[in-house]
Amino acid sequence: MLVSAKEMLNKAKAGKYAVGQFNINNLEWTKAILQTAQECNSPVILGVSEGAGKYMCGYTTIVGMVNGMINELGITVPVALHLDHGSYEGAKKCIEAGFSSVMFDGSHYPIEENIAKTKELVAICDELGLSLEAEVGSIGGEEDGVVGAGECADPEECKMVADLGITMLAAGIGNIHGKYPANWAGLSFETLAAIQELTGTMPLVLHGGTGIPADMIKKAISLGVSKINVNTECQLAFQEATRAYIEAGKDKEGKGFDPRKLLAPGVEAIKATVKEKMELFGSVNKA
Ligand code: 13P
Repeated sequence: MLVSAKEMLNKAKAGKYAVGQFNINNLEWTKAILQTAQECNSPVILGVSEGAGKYMCGYTTIVGMVNGMINELGITVPVALHLDHGSYEGAKKCIEAGFSSVMFDGSHYPIEENIAKTKELVAICDELGLSLEAEVGSIGGEEDGVVGAGECADPEECKMVADLGITMLAAGIGNIHGKYPANWAGLSFETLAAIQELTGTMPLVLHGGTGIPADMIKKAISLGVSKINVNTECQLAFQEATRAYIEAGKDKEGKGFDPRKLLAPGVEAIKATVKEKMELFGSVNKA
């Protein structure tokens, strides 16, 4: 059964570790992430961007697939199915479809509008027992065609949004989706510490988990980050493993395109990536 991310994140915040959000793109990725979470006895959050939602044939298809897998694979660790960077309308659609958690990304609106829309969603999610992530200060880089400038969040604005009754808060602290450029200035721990100081027990979310050095991840967790999002790293791992398989000519063995064979190396690569992250984030054996 899917669960809200509230309990797993409050536990992570209190226990000073982070739960990984791994974005899903198809059946193979979803299965690989769920199996790894079970093997690691770790809670997990499956992230779905609006673009991935369309690709996977809509939110109700995804809810059906994930619930089916939890059942068929005997998954007993806590699993939240979460909309990533949702629009206001997208969040409502996911709630109707049966997601257990949504992110409303109102960071591109003026703060008053972000607050008003977030507040409406807090009321809906509270009633249904779902978790809600809000965002202040955009996260840099490009994700699903949405390009953010990546400014650091204003800690006072973070406090205003945290006080609305959300479950978790994503705040820009110099993090970027996708690969980090060579001249990246690193995370702004000064901003993170100021946000943590004002928001207290609120679980903080670090987007753009791909390519952040391990020492920065650990420091971010020590300063209140309790959820870390990873997408690109799984894509890169899948790509590399699939390329090696094809370059070795192995795809030519057999009768033709066989997803069970061609996608198997990529699936193993995703499993290894997810396991490595769960170990780094400290969520192993925290189910
Ligand atoms: P990366 O693609 O950089 O890992 O970021 C993922 C993310 O933050 C999803 O919201």
